[in-house]
Amino acid sequence: MASVQNTSHEKPLLEISGLKTVFPTDDGIVNAVNDVSFKIDRGQTVGVVGESGCGKSITGLSLLQLVPSPGRIEGGEIQFYRNGEEAPLDIAQVSPRSELMREIRGNEIAIIFQEPMTSLNPVYTIGNQIAEAIVLHEQVDKKTARERAIEMIARVGIPAPTQRVDEYPHQLSGGMRQRVMIAMALCCSPTLLIADEPTTALDVTIQAQVLGLMQELQAEMGMAIMLITHDLGVIADLADEVVVMYAGRVVEKGTVDDIFYNPLHPYTQGLLKSIPVLGRTPQKTLPSIPGTVPHPLTLPVGCSFQARCSERMPELEEVNGETENGGHAVRCWLHTF
Ligand SMILES: Nc1ncnc2c1ncn2[C@@H]1O[C@H](COP(=O)(O)OP(=O)(O)O)[C@@H](O)[C@H]1O
Ligand SMILES: [Mg+2]
Repeated sequence: MASVQNTSHEKPLLEISGLKTVFPTDDGIVNAVNDVSFKIDRGQTVGVVGESGCGKSITGLSLLQLVPSPGRIEGGEIQFYRNGEEAPLDIAQVSPRSELMREIRGNEIAIIFQEPMTSLNPVYTIGNQIAEAIVLHEQVDKKTARERAIEMIARVGIPAPTQRVDEYPHQLSGGMRQRVMIAMALCCSPTLLIADEPTTALDVTIQAQVLGLMQELQAEMGMAIMLITHDLGVIADLADEVVVMYAGRVVEKGTVDDIFYNPLHPYTQGLLKSIPVLGRTPQKTLPSIPGTVPHPLTLPVGCSFQARCSERMPELEEVNGETENGGHAVRCWLHTF
């Protein structure tokens, strides 16, 4: 659990309401993020979970105005309470290329992605890349930036930082590279870190180390974390609140205890069943939710999860009345209870 807790009278750090992010395609408009609302308090960890394609990454990218073209935020608000300012700023209204947005990115909201190799530049040393991130946001000279880079490398648990600072990304292991990404993201002490599947590409032992590191740094620096993952198991120890997404929508949200001990949505229940539990008799295969996420252009009317739902209501039988000639019969769920 995150160490910094908010009291209820305080304002949240970020309040997302009715967020809608769309991609126009040749076949129609894809609602990648569809009426999404949740909030993140200062210092809190919010886990955002759901299978691939549910809109988690696009939600994260929307918060930074980094939605890839031709996608765009079409509606809703992203109220961001910046340090020292009374009134919130609606990021949904800030132009992606504006000076203001550049100031917020990295400085106040930072993001790390699943695959560090695609975010790190192979031709620069890791020290240069961390120093560059520092110089971009703070008025410091190169020497100071290098010293700070070494400090950050040490802080994320990379041994021999004075040597490592001059190494190139390919000289580091996957786990070390993800540590470098965390160092770059945290070098300007953001108030929110968006971690998009930060450990998916790593093996389990390294995964646990990197998650542990994020937790430690959060306790030290007090930032909030939005932890995006397809694996509900990853957030059990880390999250305070959990947001479950399916087909672009939030289908359930609550505290980590609500979600783990009293999941209400059959989708959440399905995700929970597919987490391996240490000590439980191993099954041949873990149960997984049958079927796949529907195509965003052909979502069913009503609940998007219906085709895969174990609790799906059966086809309506004749109800409320005599079915054979006569009586008053109606075929509608409204009249079944
Ligand atoms: N560049 C794009 N062009 C068109 N549609 C996209 C693009 N990126 C994402 N989408 C749509 O948005 C949906 C959500 O994507 P994403 O947020 O990346 O899912 P997740 O991170 O949950 O796996 C996808 O299913 C896809 O339909
Ligand atoms: Mg994603």
